[in-house]
Amino acid sequence: MSDILKVVIAGLGGRGLNAYGEYMINHPEQYQIIGIADPVESKIKKITDRIKLDNKYCFKTAEEMFTGEKIADIAFICTQDCDHLKHSILAMEAGYDLILEKPLGTTLEESQKIYDKSIELGRKVFVCHVLRYTRFYKKIKEIIMSNELGEVVNISATENVGYYHYAHSYIRGHWRRKDLSSPMIVAKCCHDTDIVSWLVGEKCTQISSFGSLMYFNNQNAPEGASKHCLDGCKSKKDCPYDAEKIYITNKISGIKHGNSWPSSAITNKDLTEENVMDALREGPYGRCVFYSDNDVVDHQIVMMEFENGACATLTMCGVTSEINREITVSCSLGEIKGNMDNQKLTINKFGKDPVIIDLSENVASHVGHGGGDYWLMNDMYTYLTGKDVNNPSITSIEDSMHGHTIAFKSEDSRISEGKVIKIK
Ligand SMILES: NC(=O)c1ccc[n+]([C@@H]2O[C@H](COP(=O)([O-])OP(=O)(O)OC[C@H]3O[C@@H](n4cnc5c(N)ncnc54)[C@H](O)[C@@H]3O)[C@@H](O)[C@H]2O)c1
Repeated sequence: MSDILKVVIAGLGGRGLNAYGEYMINHPEQYQIIGIADPVESKIKKITDRIKLDNKYCFKTAEEMFTGEKIADIAFICTQDCDHLKHSILAMEAGYDLILEKPLGTTLEESQKIYDKSIELGRKVFVCHVLRYTRFYKKIKEIIMSNELGEVVNISATENVGYYHYAHSYIRGHWRRKDLSSPMIVAKCCHDTDIVSWLVGEKCTQISSFGSLMYFNNQNAPEGASKHCLDGCKSKKDCPYDAEKIYITNKISGIKHGNSWPSSAITNKDLTEENVMDALREGPYGRCVFYSDNDVVDHQIVMMEFENGACATLTMCGVTSEINREITVSCSLGEIKGNMDNQKLTINKFGKDPVIIDLSENVASHVGHGGGDYWLMNDMYTYLTGKDVNNPSITSIEDSMHGHTIAFKSEDSRISEGKVIKIK
């Protein structure tokens, strides 16, 4: 493989265009985009306006791109969850190794099919477990691997999804229903189940899980709530989930305060108040959070046990003010506590003074996922070009299958009232 990786990208949305495509365009010394596929012409144009690309390699669909000749070293699959199976199989049959967005598939069976095909054809599949590439989790792994704190005994991990992020993605958006994407514990937390088993360094042997869609259903609609936020809702003033607040006026998420996300995900047009209001009026993102057609949970906990007896708990909650992840890794000789938001780790060696490691300076200019998007691209490049083949963050499809299995089985356990499920 040469020093510059030639790539094709299937799907030019938040991930394929804004995260990875943007990185590639800014790092021509690492990546060269050879082909792109997306049915939305304006998204194709966003790339062709900035780099030279042969017109014959701009495709309307991934299907078209992968039935033609193999034109690059590797394929990025950044289409929606429900398309991963089809597009991954086509790309592997066309001869590509894959950098595949999570989740592998929308069910364990779909994920298994991708796994089987990769083994049959000898293709490599790297799932975008962006957290593994953050300096935050990489540092935790490094400390564990150094053995200075002894053996990992217990991990407590929390994912605070954030109330407006939850409303955007899991009540109104793409990931609101299991049949359209996957269970929330898979869609959101296959990252966390992967991280936890990576940090423990052992296979998970059994799990149990509880959770439900407790709050966001029509029994909890406040009096006078309309089915659509802009249809004269009488509860609008006091409702934090009001779409106009989330996308336009809210300090932490609205375009009036210079935030582009989540509004950039609801319209392909410029982020003016008028365009965003149009998107709310016409699309699914103006729906009342109590009258949507969502069915994924708003909170869930998972308990895990590993081969060596270590345990872990994962708490995922949609109704939180902050969007962050917190972790405590308890080891036999000390503990690591961290909050990904402030990028600080506190190391408590038992009997010694705490040591604080501040990683905030290492969050690169691409801040997506605590720098994980940036470092995934950088580390995949150095790995695939042979410049650093010993990076512990790099995943195999076996690793990804294991983390996904924990997540899918957690959903099975949850709907069986917490039944303990053995993982083979
Ligand atoms: N790694 C992470 O942390 C992370 C974060 C967010 C999303 N994701 C995952 O990334 C994937 C993409 O998410 P997104 O937010 O970019 O979604 P998106 O909807 O913004 O992008 C998907 C793109 O695929 C295009 N598309 C649809 N059909 C196509 C086809 N047949 N051929 C080619 N392109 C097609 C759409 O037009 C769209 O531009 C999803 O699977 C999602 O779950 C991963």
